[in-house]
Amino acid sequence: MRRLHRACRRRGDASCITTVGESAITTIEAIGQAPQGAALQKAWLELEVVQCGYCQSGQIMSAAALLKDTPKPTDDDIDAAMSGNVCRCGTYQRIRAAIKHAAGV
Ligand code: FES
Repeated sequence: MRRLHRACRRRGDASCITTVGESAITTIEAIGQAPQGAALQKAWLELEVVQCGYCQSGQIMSAAALLKDTPKPTDDDIDAAMSGNVCRCGTYQRIRAAIKHAAGV
């Protein structure tokens, strides 16, 4: 019997056991190797975005994907890209500011 993580069962996509085949995977540990990722890390620290830190890996990964595709994002771009990430600490304004800071907008 295949057991799934509770969140996977709830979403129904079983992402925690989905194979990625030949696709490249970038983790939070490697995000600083790309210029946008390094800029995000720097901005996150300078603007003291993190509160408890629970959500921050996902926030930074989403922000990095946004800047890779949209180097100069608008507020609407940021809101759309970050909408799947929930921060219980409510750091949304600092996240938005850090993304803009990293993007130079
Ligand atoms: S920093 Fe605490 S949940 Fe986002």
